[in-house]
Amino acid sequence: MTGEEHAMTVGRVEGYPYYSGPASLHSYHATIDRLREGGPFYWNGNDDNGYWVLTDPQAVMEAYKTPDLFLSDSVIATDPNPPFKWIPIMLDGDEHRTWRRLMAPAFTPRRIKEIEDGVRVHAVRIIEALAPRGKADALMDFGNIFPTIVFMELMGLPVEDADRFLAWEHAMLNTPAGEDPDRSISVNAQREVTEYLELVIAAKRADPGEDLISMALSWQIDGAPISHDDLMNYCLLMVIGGLDTVQSTLSWAFYHLATHPDDRARIIEDDSLVPAFVEEILRVYAIIQVARKASRDDDFHGCPVKKGDMVLLPISVAARDPRTYPDPTTVRFDRGTAPQFAFGAGPHRCPGLDLARRELRIAIEEWHRWIPHYALDESFRAIEEVGAQIRVPAVPLRWQV
Ligand code: HEM
Repeated sequence: MTGEEHAMTVGRVEGYPYYSGPASLHSYHATIDRLREGGPFYWNGNDDNGYWVLTDPQAVMEAYKTPDLFLSDSVIATDPNPPFKWIPIMLDGDEHRTWRRLMAPAFTPRRIKEIEDGVRVHAVRIIEALAPRGKADALMDFGNIFPTIVFMELMGLPVEDADRFLAWEHAMLNTPAGEDPDRSISVNAQREVTEYLELVIAAKRADPGEDLISMALSWQIDGAPISHDDLMNYCLLMVIGGLDTVQSTLSWAFYHLATHPDDRARIIEDDSLVPAFVEEILRVYAIIQVARKASRDDDFHGCPVKKGDMVLLPISVAARDPRTYPDPTTVRFDRGTAPQFAFGAGPHRCPGLDLARRELRIAIEEWHRWIPHYALDESFRAIEEVGAQIRVPAVPLRWQV
């Protein structure tokens, strides 16, 4: 069936928000909410380059947990055959399981707990310098750089190169499709990161440390050391997975707290509420939509996928489902053990979730210890950026000193 025929048999979405660049604030989540109520799936596009969007919460969650039908061979809906292989996110089956086993010791809650004090020191150092200024951009001056430094230290990369990493990461993940139609900006940035990592890896082979890259140098698969290319593709994915996600989530956290003074007052008064707040930010402003490639023809929850079709699985479909979360768009501190879908589901569920939660909690705790009272600066623009993730691009704040 051609894309046009698909569109005639099921709903069609025009201009679905995917790598679509700047948009008015909240429009992404509002679109997903509208699509969820409008039908269980859609075909986006009107030619053979289109893709399915699942908008039934149950179907989205099950798709993540059905890896034999929904392959991770490509996770970008518009690019079924990308010229790169990020590891482990683009692996399937046994190969994927092997990598996850190798990675597991680096992400245990215990190991993450061990680095907590160091992570806090980084947060305090940045915020302490901002506090006397009376104004700063919570994202540009803190939310972007803080997870970058944490990540670089974890990987054993020189922290003084953090700005270069920020630029590469932006080019790889947040360049709107209109500005990068052939994805050359993104691919070039990947090449530059790769060249940089080549040098780092060579140095670590000669003089390994305690960091994640050094750990990976000793990994073996079927008795042989992992290949240089695989190591590189693993490091690249870590750059992609570990930086932008925490930054985007922090952009929403600060935006929310600046515009919801009652919620802010509650966490200032009682910082034991911060973990619950972080869970709600992850849920209400879920930032990720990844895709899968169908391995065969199937009728999945009624959606007639054909072998090779790309299928987009927006996490927000499930994370803001009113049937699971009453009053779903409100940040509530009392949801208790409500399921958290922001980190995905199934075999690819985020291995960095403990680290991410810890970074987010520390960022919120320390910011409010130093700068509890603030307001959005008038330079704030009510826009969001829809790239690989959804984020508020800048959160300028001001406060009394
Ligand atoms: C708020 C922060 C974060 C969010 C919301 C998030 C979300 C996700 C999601 C939804 C996936 C699944 C993708 C898929 O199914 O295709 C994923 C995978 C992954 N994440 Fe995260 N993540 C975050 C932070 C991190 C951090 C801090 C790291 C590491 C330093 C990390 C490393 C990874 C890796 C390596 C994968 C691939 C796992 C696999 O394919 O098996 N993430 N993340």
